[in-house]
Amino acid sequence: HMTAEQYEEKRNRKSFFGGTVDVWKKIVTVWSSINFYQRMIILATQTTIFVLAVYFIQQGGLTIGGLVALNGYAAMLFGPFVLLGRNWQTLQNGLVSIRQTEEKIFDTPHEIYHPQNAFSPAKINGEVEFKNVSFGYDKSTTVLRNLTFKVRQGERVAFVGKSGVGKSTIIDLIPGYYFPTKGALLVDGHDTRQFDLTALRNSIAVVSQEPVLFNDSIMMNIRYGRIDATDEEVIEAAKNAHAHDFIEELPMKYEQLVGERGIKLSVGQKQRIAIARAILRNPKILILDEPTSALDAQTEKKISETFEELMKGRTTFIAAHRLSTIRKVDRIFVLENGRIVEEGKHDDLIKKEGGIYRHMYEYQVGV
Ligand SMILES: Nc1ncnc2c1ncn2[C@@H]1O[C@H](COP(=O)(O)OP(=O)(O)OP(=O)(O)O)[C@@H](O)[C@H]1O
Ligand SMILES: [Mg+2]
Repeated sequence: HMTAEQYEEKRNRKSFFGGTVDVWKKIVTVWSSINFYQRMIILATQTTIFVLAVYFIQQGGLTIGGLVALNGYAAMLFGPFVLLGRNWQTLQNGLVSIRQTEEKIFDTPHEIYHPQNAFSPAKINGEVEFKNVSFGYDKSTTVLRNLTFKVRQGERVAFVGKSGVGKSTIIDLIPGYYFPTKGALLVDGHDTRQFDLTALRNSIAVVSQEPVLFNDSIMMNIRYGRIDATDEEVIEAAKNAHAHDFIEELPMKYEQLVGERGIKLSVGQKQRIAIARAILRNPKILILDEPTSALDAQTEKKISETFEELMKGRTTFIAAHRLSTIRKVDRIFVLENGRIVEEGKHDDLIKKEGGIYRHMYEYQVGV
C-alpha cells in the first residue's frame, strides 16, 4: 500500500502542477496571443493610415505635415503595446524558472529507500541491537560514543539524561533517519543500512518530541499512520488515544484544518494525534519521545494510560523527561557525555548510593 511519503509527494505534485504551473501557462498563452494580435493591429492600422493618407493628400484635405503628425500620434498610441510585447521575454524567463523549480523539487535525490540487495521483510519481529554505535551530526562533534546494548522483542526501554545528551538522537537512528558514524545498528539482526527503509518504517511508529501536523484535516493527519485506513478506523484510533473528545469540540470536528493554515493545537493535543497515528499503524517497534514542555497533570495521565495500552507486545523505546512515566519499563539507560553510565530497573537504580539516576529522581520528586 501507499506510504505517507508517497501520499505527500503526490499531493505536492498535484498542487504544484494543478496550481502554479497551470495559472502561469494560461497567463503566458494570453500574453503571447496579445503579442501576436498587437502586431496585427499595428500593421493593419499603419496600412489603413497610409492608404487613407494617400487618399486625403490626393483630395487636398491633408498636408504632408499633417501626415507626419498623425503618424506621431499613432506611435504614441501604440507605444505601450510595443512595451507590453517586450515583456514577453520576462514572462519566458519566468516559465524557465518554474521549470527549474520543478526539477529542484521533484528531481532532488531521495533518501535511498531501497538500497541494492536490500533486506525487505513483510514484517519484522522488533529486536534491536546497538553494536559499538558512535554518532555525530558532523565530523567535528560526537554525540553518541560507543553504545552497545541489545533490546529483546517486546522489551521496554527508556533513555534518561540531561537535555542535549542525545536521547532523541539515539531513537532517530532506529527508523534510519540517521545512520551510525561508527559501529552498526541491527534490527532483527540486519544492519539498518541494508534495510529497505519503507519496509523498516512500516513496522515502526514514532511519537516525536514535537509532533508535526500537516496542513490538512485532523482526519488525514491521523490517517498518516496508515494511508488506507477507513474513517471508522481513524475515529476508533482517536478514541483509544483519548483524542476523540477534544476533536469533537473543534468547530469542524474531524474535518478541522490544522497546521499553518488551520487552527493551532497544544503540544498535548498534537501528541494525542500522533498517538492515534501510531495506534493505526499497529507497529512492532514503538518510539516515544516525550515532549519537553510540561503537560497539565490530567493530559499527562491520559497520555500515559494510552501509552500503556499501546506498548503491549511491542518493542518500545522512550526518551523520557518525567521519570514518573518510566517506573515500569524493563530497563532504563542513563546517559552522560554520549555514553551509558547506568543501566537497570527503576527500583534498582534508585537504591544506588550516589547514583546519577537516584540523584535525578530525588531532584524531580523534591526530596
Ligand atoms: N539535526 C541536528 N543537527 C545537528 N546537531 C543536532 C541535531 N539534533 C540534535 N543535535 C545536537 O545533538 C545533541 C543531542 O541532541 P538530542 O536532541 O539528541 O538531545 P536530547 O537528549 O533529546 O535533548 P532533550 O532532552 O532536550 O530532548 C545536542 O548537542 C544537539 O544540539
Ligand atoms: Mg530530545
